[in-house]
Amino acid sequence: MDTSKCIIVMDFGGQYKELIARVVREMGVYSLILPSRTPAEKLREYDPAGIIFSGGPHSVYKEGAPSCDPGVFSLNVPVLGICYGMQYAAQRFGGKVQPGTVSEYGETKVELSASPLFKGLSSRETMLMSHTDIVSEPPAGFTVTASTENCPVAAMEDRERKIYCVQFHPEVNRSAHGKTLLFNFIFDICGAHKNYSLEGYIESQITSIREQVKDKNVLLGLSGGVDSAVAAALIAKALPGRLLCVYVDHGFMRKNETEQIKTAFSSLPLKLEAIDARAQFLQKLKGVTDPEQKRKIIGGEFVKTFAEAAKKYGEGAFLAQGTIYPDVIESGADNSANIKSHHNVGGLPKDMPFIGLVEPLRGLFKDEVRKLGKKLGLPEDIVSRQPFPGPGLAIRVIGEVTEEKLNALREADYIFREEMAAANVAASQYFAVLTDSRSVGVIGDFRNYGYVACLRAVITEDFMTAQFARLPYELLERVSSRIVNEVRLISRVCYDITGKPPATVEWE
Ligand code: XMP
Repeated sequence: MDTSKCIIVMDFGGQYKELIARVVREMGVYSLILPSRTPAEKLREYDPAGIIFSGGPHSVYKEGAPSCDPGVFSLNVPVLGICYGMQYAAQRFGGKVQPGTVSEYGETKVELSASPLFKGLSSRETMLMSHTDIVSEPPAGFTVTASTENCPVAAMEDRERKIYCVQFHPEVNRSAHGKTLLFNFIFDICGAHKNYSLEGYIESQITSIREQVKDKNVLLGLSGGVDSAVAAALIAKALPGRLLCVYVDHGFMRKNETEQIKTAFSSLPLKLEAIDARAQFLQKLKGVTDPEQKRKIIGGEFVKTFAEAAKKYGEGAFLAQGTIYPDVIESGADNSANIKSHHNVGGLPKDMPFIGLVEPLRGLFKDEVRKLGKKLGLPEDIVSRQPFPGPGLAIRVIGEVTEEKLNALREADYIFREEMAAANVAASQYFAVLTDSRSVGVIGDFRNYGYVACLRAVITEDFMTAQFARLPYELLERVSSRIVNEVRLISRVCYDITGKPPATVEWE
């Protein structure tokens, strides 16, 4: 991607850094997230229109607090400091930062005075505050442009040096007109122009895939997940007939999933090699009950099966992966320049025959990947897919995994998903678990000593923390009744009302 006139989000450790970058992209301007320590010279190479300092959980006056190259302020590029970003700028230019008398958290009334940043906003706006430290004295040359009851410097700016700072979080929806503020910064203060769209991304990736791969072939491991599916669709568009997708069916997919994948990909210009490894995986799990051991066995078997396929089909070809931007940010890798060798990726063995790695989604956030998938014609079932663990249903059958238990879980899970869709109830992720406990029930005149199934539905933004979803009782009742009536092996249904933490989303 051409980065010129992009907006760079410098990562000071805040949870909203991705959100900031996504909001900028939604406004049609390309954005990147870089570590706060990125040298100013490196930043200059990107030729940004503006720089945003993210928030972060640290205190600027404590040892080890994140900082940036002071040269960033001499790039003659406007800077917007958010929360920690503001406190950092304040300290850097000689202002005073200290703990506030009260922590401000939540929607807060902010009094605004005239600033190009606040164009179109009222003199009193509601913004999300989340901080303990405050700027108690702004640096020389800075004008205070906002305040709240407990925070005398809720925004400040030095127009000459093009540094604008806010203590609140304009990027979140809970800040009523926060997006207008970001719009003003990006377009009026930075003078950015719209330079980013998913259509443009598709075009630029098609060109670079063709340049990289030339006349070679590409092999991709299709997991059934969104990322690998969208990567496959994009590469197939760039290189019709030269992409081979290897799909390892480990037998732990949900009901109809393997067929869905085969159907969705049958219309694309690629070859799909589905390896039926169901018996092999089940055999390896015989008698295994420990969750970690199950995961290890499945992971190891997967790599072995894929590596065999790679040896057979991958000679002289590129390996493609559905790596997305958050993976790149998390691994601390710089965006474009240094593409990791495939030897380091996904636990694959070193002696793979590939000549290089193709990762066409490296620059995209998850929601963009889904949108891209739709644009490339992938069906809704695939692009809107919930997260699904690599070991699949094998870690949702608690205890030993058998074919019979897998089939029962598949049916129960399908009923749950069907009823959720029919009731039009949303949750971030929902599924059924087959516990290892048995319970007595009665069906007709017969005693039924079956397994206890548990339904799990969670609401979450990032899957790091989650709440159980408050599903309507009527829906739960319908699902429970259908499961015990339609799935012979299950005699009782429970609903999991544990949050994360202390529980995890999955049971194993
Ligand atoms: P936990 O159970 O850790 O799950 O709270 C958080 C999210 O991660 C998914 N998950 C996995 N995804 N491989 C994956 O690709 C795995 O082994 C795995 N385990 C958990 C889980 O479904 C949830 O969305």
